[in-house]
Amino acid sequence: MSTQSRAGGLDIARLRSEFPALHQSVHGKPLVYLDNAATTHKPRSVIDATVRFYEQDNANVHRGLHALSARATQAYEMARDKVRGFINAADASECIFTSGVTDSLNLAAYTLGAGLKRGDRIVLSHMEHHSNIVPWQIVAGRVGAEVVPLPVTDRGELDLARAGEVIDERTKVVSCVFVSNTLGTINDVHRVCTLARAAGAVSVIDAAQAAAHLSIDVRAIGCDFLALTGHKMYGPTGIGVLYGRRALLDRLPPFRGGGEMIDQCTFAGTTFAPPPARFEAGTPNIAGAIGLGVAIDFLASQDRATWAEHEHELLVRATGALERVDGLRVVGRATHKIATVSFVLEWAHPYDVAPILDHAGVAVRTGHHCTQPLMDRLGLKATIRASMAAYNTAEEVDTLVAALHKARRMLAG
Ligand SMILES: Cc1ncc(COP(=O)(O)O)c(C=O)c1O
Repeated sequence: MSTQSRAGGLDIARLRSEFPALHQSVHGKPLVYLDNAATTHKPRSVIDATVRFYEQDNANVHRGLHALSARATQAYEMARDKVRGFINAADASECIFTSGVTDSLNLAAYTLGAGLKRGDRIVLSHMEHHSNIVPWQIVAGRVGAEVVPLPVTDRGELDLARAGEVIDERTKVVSCVFVSNTLGTINDVHRVCTLARAAGAVSVIDAAQAAAHLSIDVRAIGCDFLALTGHKMYGPTGIGVLYGRRALLDRLPPFRGGGEMIDQCTFAGTTFAPPPARFEAGTPNIAGAIGLGVAIDFLASQDRATWAEHEHELLVRATGALERVDGLRVVGRATHKIATVSFVLEWAHPYDVAPILDHAGVAVRTGHHCTQPLMDRLGLKATIRASMAAYNTAEEVDTLVAALHKARRMLAG
């Protein structure tokens, strides 16, 4: 049986049949979607749940005494509890719905920033996405704190042997990406959080790229905060989560003011609701939260160990075949990686190759991937990034590689 339909114990044809968007042609070629780090496609169950909400239950949450509002509220809070289970949080109130990881990290930076002062240190790894750099720089600029990078090795791994050089008694926050969106590196976030705790700092983990590939257990990781985004884990866009340890959330000020986040509001002043409501001002993305809950159900119904094996086979196949393309260099050689491969070419700029790949039906990402400090560290301006998901096949990897050989024949002269 071809790998197109079955790989190891995974029935890929069946898995792919759940994703309508995969079954289309682009420029007359079957779509080969290798841009999953940007966003994954959505299974039918997530799409249906979102449509069903608008068709049948559409109402605002927490504020109506009518049947539709009760149904919407129940579904929204049930989704929160699914998130709790997905990350093994102690209580659903620790899971705040946001619009995505960018929003989650801004919430964390803004509220934690209220407790920072001049001379305090915020340590971020050198491989962070801009959404885990810029919010901290804004806060640091406001209070006079400094943002210091935790070094990364030439292989694209955290240089934790040098953590002691940057994490010190001035450090109040350590924020680190679980999985690098550019290199695919899986970081030892448990160790990062242990180092943060030993220094008396709060730990924040950006799990944007981790959720679709790894199991996440906030208590095993030992983090204080963790950010998730729906659209990279087979869920809708515009929905995310900030997990925060309840004891810490209780002490934090609100992020945004508005409806639903108050206890009492008078012109003399306002008192605030307990978490999570304190951090969810205004009408939330109800359909998105429900869709995220269904994406979590979808993930829970899969054999994730078999997925991981399959994705690892794709990583090994892609890395080996790419390295056989003349003048191609894979960037990021971490020991522990998800199936994301970044590379550069001696004979062409990534932006000249992407259209050729697109013409072959292959969707990849080119650029700095919102990690300019990492690019500077590696002496690069841009890479081409192929990021695989469980529904990708060995044949699709081969199509990418064949298209690159063709691009070389066209561009290398
Ligand atoms: C590692 C990482 N962090 C943060 C983000 C931003 O996530 P969102 O799109 O949910 O705002 C991304 C998206 O590319 C990412 O890959």
